[in-house]
Amino acid sequence: MRHLLSTRDLGRDEAIAILDVAEDMADVADREVRKLPTLRGKTVVNLFFEDSTRTRISFEAAAKRLSADVINFSAKGSSVSKGESLKDTAQTLAAIGADAVVIRHGASGAPLVLAQSAWIDAAIINAGDGTHEHPTQALLDAFTIRRRLHGRGSRGRALDGVSVTIVGDILHSRVARSNVWLLSTLGAEVTLVAPATLLPVGVRDWPVAVTYDLDEALDAIPDVVMMLRIQSERMHAAFFPNAREYSRQWGLGDERLARLAADSIVMHPGPMNRGLEISSGAADSPRSTVLEQVANGVSVRMAVLYLALSGQRGLAESTSVSHA
Ligand code: CP
Repeated sequence: MRHLLSTRDLGRDEAIAILDVAEDMADVADREVRKLPTLRGKTVVNLFFEDSTRTRISFEAAAKRLSADVINFSAKGSSVSKGESLKDTAQTLAAIGADAVVIRHGASGAPLVLAQSAWIDAAIINAGDGTHEHPTQALLDAFTIRRRLHGRGSRGRALDGVSVTIVGDILHSRVARSNVWLLSTLGAEVTLVAPATLLPVGVRDWPVAVTYDLDEALDAIPDVVMMLRIQSERMHAAFFPNAREYSRQWGLGDERLARLAADSIVMHPGPMNRGLEISSGAADSPRSTVLEQVANGVSVRMAVLYLALSGQRGLAESTSVSHA
């Protein structure tokens, strides 16, 4: 894997292989091996043009656990605010010797532009581009689902027949898009639930079922309910129903939580609007995987960086060397 731009680019075997390497990474962490030497001498740049908490921190933790040097770049406070272009920024990173660029950008397609350019010869990892994709979020979501439903010994398994209901602001959600492609590649059955104004044009061509009625979707007893953040920063007021009405019709509150099957799980990529798309009762319940998703994100991002930067060198060879 040279770049990771979209989960659409991942075949089933490749996606399973990434999840399996992430399991290896999690096993290493469980053995209290704090650092692997795998990426010693490599430089990973976190290039963030949009705000982030989870993704930026976990890519930093992942790169450091693999012994890479990490440079964190935020557009705020950089020469981007003086009008510097993506090309000049990329060429600056190339001059510094970046081996991988983890990019979050408000423009859909910005990571693809970098990957196809001659400005920089580095692995490009999409950390969220506009409303397009957020592939490592989908990978960590699939990893979390696989672990919760199939246990830790789930290497080699896909998600065949697992029912996943994704609820909320599909229109603006790169998380939803990456999950739709990845989960369907892995054999899951995906249902989208949203008000009509928060569904994208063309959604009927996606490999999903679509409904406007959350209660109808919950009657089908899904294995996974994935709530999405209302992205008010990306929408005009006219798109958004009244907050109380939204919460009543499409929010996961305590009453709907109580209707879920005993072993079904509640996911949210974060950050959450508590009281809007999800109640605190649901977010903090034993069914919630919100913090597991964050923790699993480090293992998954270690796997992605490892596969992008170290070729196919055996992980066992790397993990056999323990470092304090
Ligand atoms: N899920 C996610 O992308 O969170 P951040 O915006 O905090 O990175």
